[in-house]
Amino acid sequence: MDLKQLKKQLSKDLNKASNSKDLQDLKIKYLGKKGRISLLSKDLGKLSQSERPKAGKAINLLKKFFEEQSQILSKEIEQQEINAILETESIDISLPVESEKLGNLHPITKTIDKICQYFISRGYSIEDGPEIESEYFNFDALNIPKDHPARDMHDTFYVDAEMLLRTHTSPVQIRSILKSKAPLKIICPGKVYRSDADQTHTPMFHQIEGLLIDEKVNFGNLKHELTEFLNYFFGKKLKVRFRPSYFPFTEPSAEVDIMDKKGWLEIMGCGMVHPNVLKEAGVDPKKYSGFAFGLGIERMTKLDYQMDDMRLLFENDLRLISQS
Ligand code: DAH
Repeated sequence: MDLKQLKKQLSKDLNKASNSKDLQDLKIKYLGKKGRISLLSKDLGKLSQSERPKAGKAINLLKKFFEEQSQILSKEIEQQEINAILETESIDISLPVESEKLGNLHPITKTIDKICQYFISRGYSIEDGPEIESEYFNFDALNIPKDHPARDMHDTFYVDAEMLLRTHTSPVQIRSILKSKAPLKIICPGKVYRSDADQTHTPMFHQIEGLLIDEKVNFGNLKHELTEFLNYFFGKKLKVRFRPSYFPFTEPSAEVDIMDKKGWLEIMGCGMVHPNVLKEAGVDPKKYSGFAFGLGIERMTKLDYQMDDMRLLFENDLRLISQS
């Protein structure tokens, strides 16, 4: 076929193309496998040696012409299509939007974070332990043997003959010593369970356990550490009292009270780690001593947020838990 005529035809077709589909069809018509220009290239073989280069060059020029023209056209069509969309679709940026409600951390989580942050800055590391715990770690290893009266006070949920829901975070003391050996500085936040429910008790609540073991640790170190912590937590210098008490795993033991509006308020238990506990965990009590403490998160949260009833913390009322 006459190339000049083909070129004319091709230009005419391009002029008629008005959208991207037309253009695509033309590409197939001319450059597809059986396209008009492609077929010409295939026929080159039928020409004589002397005719072939000239004809090949002419076909290439035509191909290039088509490609250039269709590219120009493609840009024009694209612009037209965008303009059409812009004309028909519009966004009213003045319409009011319903703002998304963002989630919030629960006050208990925030209290745990606040306490952990402090102890991390003092060089403590965070430890974890199982909530379904063995009787051995929850009681025996903490110097609370089978017939010890302290077991009764714990209102334990038993899972079976040996396993129970931990009644305190203190078993993590033993687990951490076994894992990391002395010296050691850890805290462990977590859930604990007791079969108990009234205005000040819930069957599940949170504690943070602290444990420091080193050479020559004494009760003065414990008093200083906890007093500093309480001043940090409540943001002011508080009246703090260490009242002699009893825990089987510490000797001597104390309870820490702070002066609240209504008088002295008990907020945690603490003491010097009992030598039996150190021995049970494989630490030599002649070389090492340590202190431990355990505090209730709900009570700390209640004080920090000035709440009257601890049970509010478990009702998931958005008015409470969306406070920052
Ligand atoms: N585990 C005790 C409880 O739940 C609290 C406690 C008291 C923890 C004294 C300690 C401690 O580490 O030294 O009542």
